[in-house]
Amino acid sequence: MVSEEMREKLNLYGQAHLIGFYGELSAAEKSQLENQLETIDFALMERLFRQTQEQKAEPPAGIEPIPCAVEAAWTTQEKQNYYLRGMEILRDGKYAAVTMAGGQGTRLGHPGPKGTFRICVPEEISLFEIQCRRLKARSEECGRTIPWYIMTSEENDAETKRFFRENGFFGYPEEDVVFFRQFMLPMLDQNGKLLLEEKYKIREGADGHGGIFRAMLKRGVTEDLKRRGIEWVYTGGIDNVLARPADPLLIGYLAANHYELGGKSIIKRDAYEKAGVFCRKNGRPFVIEYTEIPAELAEQRDGAGAFVYGDAHILCNLFRVDVFDKMGEEGLPYHAACKKASYIDAQGRRIEPDRPNAYKFESFLFDAFSFYQKMGILRVEREREFAPIKNRTGEDSPETAQKLYAEAAKERSAL
Ligand code: UTP
Repeated sequence: MVSEEMREKLNLYGQAHLIGFYGELSAAEKSQLENQLETIDFALMERLFRQTQEQKAEPPAGIEPIPCAVEAAWTTQEKQNYYLRGMEILRDGKYAAVTMAGGQGTRLGHPGPKGTFRICVPEEISLFEIQCRRLKARSEECGRTIPWYIMTSEENDAETKRFFRENGFFGYPEEDVVFFRQFMLPMLDQNGKLLLEEKYKIREGADGHGGIFRAMLKRGVTEDLKRRGIEWVYTGGIDNVLARPADPLLIGYLAANHYELGGKSIIKRDAYEKAGVFCRKNGRPFVIEYTEIPAELAEQRDGAGAFVYGDAHILCNLFRVDVFDKMGEEGLPYHAACKKASYIDAQGRRIEPDRPNAYKFESFLFDAFSFYQKMGILRVEREREFAPIKNRTGEDSPETAQKLYAEAAKERSAL
């Protein structure tokens, strides 16, 4: 039974349509819907909808360039020092890696979790296995297994786990692979109504890669890290086939300079590459999105002809473990995006929209940066570290990633 309290709440927030088909549901479906209703923060959803209506292009004030360390400019001695420091942390078992694999991969359109997508290099290998091989190789080098955490979503958790089981965890010690689910948020239609995916199910979407902090805290991952004595945690996406989930240089650089957080950057390809760039906003580290940066800043060059705002964020970051406690409690703002989402209308018909019809709310991991005074940014070489798979064809597609992977493999080890 939907409680009287819940009915009142649904009426209060204008969401009573969610139980419009309740009478038609089986006992199991009824209880599924009741349980889902209990998890939803209707006040938050109302606030988020209001934000979408008020969204005004806020001129990005207080933006300044931020300095970066440049790996290519380090002396052999500096490299050696950072490498040794990083290896010490790895060898002491103070390091873990988190792969964020909870996204929907809508642009790629692969049926199944993005990490199960295979590229040909020339052997067929899945994106999960690519990450796994790098971690395995580094674990062998440092003489102990690097704990590997994988963030999934409600949508792809079961399939991801099945893929790992079916592939024998790619030879990684099973006890060192930990899956955890990020949280979901309901999607809203253009009038602020929650959508029904089925008559018994509210349509929800993963809450963005920024959801990692809350998920790690609330799902007990942060506690598990501490229990294992972990001090440094890598976070990265699943779709960069050149990502280095355990790079001693970045670890050593951040540790030696007493940073609490840091990340890698690459020089943007051109003024309008679709990537956020590092900067300072009101004196704090910040990533300004390519959709928000004014043209004069995007194009601005220094005396030597280099972009002033040229360091693109590649979702390759490192945090001290305490950051997850703080940011997990703090929470990050949500950004709305309009997406296509099928739904059940008031007459019970399934509607497949042909244009974006629903708001999806996501938080971005890099919004955490401005909670800190400073962070270490290490500029690395694009050809060696960045080959993302975003689109089915063209730019940042399996074809471009395969080519870049093959070229990088000629020059360096799999690490
Ligand atoms: P993207 O923002 O590129 O999203 O994620 P996506 O899911 O890969 O692709 P589109 O935008 O739907 O086409 C970058 C990384 O962050 C992860 C993704 O799995 C990817 O590794 N991510 C994104 C999450 O883990 N959770 C999210 O809610 C969003």
